[in-house]
Amino acid sequence: LTAEHYNVARGSYGSIEQSDLDFFKSIVPNGVVTDASDLEMFNEDWMHKYRGQSKVMLKPQNTEQVSKIMAHCNARKLAVVPQGGNTGLVGGSVPVFDEIILSLANMNKIRHFDPVSGVLTADAGVILQNADDYLRTQGFIFPLDLGAKGSCQIGGNLATNAGGLRLLRYGSLHGTVLGVEGVFATGEVFDGLSSLRKDNTGYDLKQLFIGSEGTLGVITGLSIICPPKPNAVNVAFLGLESFDKVQEAFVKSRSHLAEILSSFECMDASSLKLASHHCSLQAPLSDVHPFSVLIETSGSNSAHDEEKLSGFLEALMEEGIITDGVLAQDETQIANLWYWREFIPEASTKAGGVYKYDVSLPLPAMWELVDATNDRLIKQNLVGSTDEFPVVDTIGYGHIGDSNLHLNVAVRRYDDRVEQALEPFVFEFVAKHKGSVSAEHGLGFQKAHALHYSKSEHMIGLMKALKRHYDPNLILNPYKYLP
Ligand code: FAD
Ligand code: MLT
Ligand code: ZN
Repeated sequence: LTAEHYNVARGSYGSIEQSDLDFFKSIVPNGVVTDASDLEMFNEDWMHKYRGQSKVMLKPQNTEQVSKIMAHCNARKLAVVPQGGNTGLVGGSVPVFDEIILSLANMNKIRHFDPVSGVLTADAGVILQNADDYLRTQGFIFPLDLGAKGSCQIGGNLATNAGGLRLLRYGSLHGTVLGVEGVFATGEVFDGLSSLRKDNTGYDLKQLFIGSEGTLGVITGLSIICPPKPNAVNVAFLGLESFDKVQEAFVKSRSHLAEILSSFECMDASSLKLASHHCSLQAPLSDVHPFSVLIETSGSNSAHDEEKLSGFLEALMEEGIITDGVLAQDETQIANLWYWREFIPEASTKAGGVYKYDVSLPLPAMWELVDATNDRLIKQNLVGSTDEFPVVDTIGYGHIGDSNLHLNVAVRRYDDRVEQALEPFVFEFVAKHKGSVSAEHGLGFQKAHALHYSKSEHMIGLMKALKRHYDPNLILNPYKYLP
């Protein structure tokens, strides 16, 4: 879908001229992409939902080049969209009109690692999987993990403040990131690559970059504190009869597994059925239960952790909290169990497209929303197994440990009737329960207009003032983030 479809008008930005291209070539001789077919995949988002028409992508190799590019764009009022791995799920990483795509892909070096403190310093364009692979050779891991790790970049992770699969154990990037190097819209360099754990000398300005989705500045480097690689990892996959039981299991897992609990993920039967429809792997349990939970522990002593986890599972079974369960016996089984959780986002797009809602809600209200959404779409006659119906199914999964639900409506094609059935319905439900309309994916293009469901007029006013201060010509990621 293009800007026209969403009734958005192009801002009064400059258009690229030959003199701009000549300037960019003088700064990044091998990093100016103008071929339309080369640009295609960078103009379209991961969900194939949003498409822009950028004519230029720039691929700088260092911070100085980024600074020169931004200073030029600011002087010429050329709009820019920073792009990492383009795995974002809210249409934030692609242009809306003809914004210049500023790709971080060529800034992909590990700069330094200190094995004593565990602090990694790296370029923003390092792919998350590569950062984690490198750290593992040093006996450490990256404190964030998510399904898009093979493509997303650590700078993109900071820009979206990604949460991922182990936030309940390792915390948010607002806590683990120790330093940021960035370039504001004006070209001014923010030299904040500290590696100090504690530093109370003034405002914590690096936080402005984390979660601001490329609207204030471009992240070019970062330092982050990384945990040691756990010696023992165990994974269990459980079947449960109701979401009440899921909540009981969660409460018990926190007290029984305590410091070794590293993940508590949940998926409903529709999610698993959709995944198994598109996957040839054997499902983890013989039946598909109304709810499935994946529990991971990470610790230092495998005998101790295994004993703790199997004792915990026995207790859950005896108390009738779980109906069935399996414990992975080796690394392949661990990977297979994780696959069933991590494959769901991809499976949800297979029929053609997906409407995604990533919300924070109090746990008891979570599946009320999934059921209410499903009922609403069925009542409006939008759901069916044949091509005449746009909706394939409504699924729910998410990070129970963080009170974060992913409500997904898998569709055969994007259809305004579906969008109108979902919005503002989902946002109103979330606001009524004092939740957040974006728990971890961000606002981007999709949710900028829904910000007021989670933030007051006063807060939005403060955000706009910050934006005007750091980006006076509003050239960075326009049409997104702020209403
Ligand atoms: P992009 O998609 O390229 O960009 C995302 C936003 O950040 C855009 O607004 C862009 O302008 C901005 N940006 C990117 N790089 C920079 C930079 N260097 N400086 C300034 N701004 C920048 N998210 C979660 O939180 N948890 C998950 O578990 C999770 N799982 C996912 C699983 C899959 C299969 C997919 C496809 C996505 C998932 N996501 C998840 C979404 C998540 O936001 C992204 O995967 C990731 O954080 C984005 O990184 P990226 O490099 O692809 O950024
Ligand atoms: C996930 O938890 O799998 C991600 O946030 C991606 C998604 O919701 O699709
Ligand atoms: Zn998620």
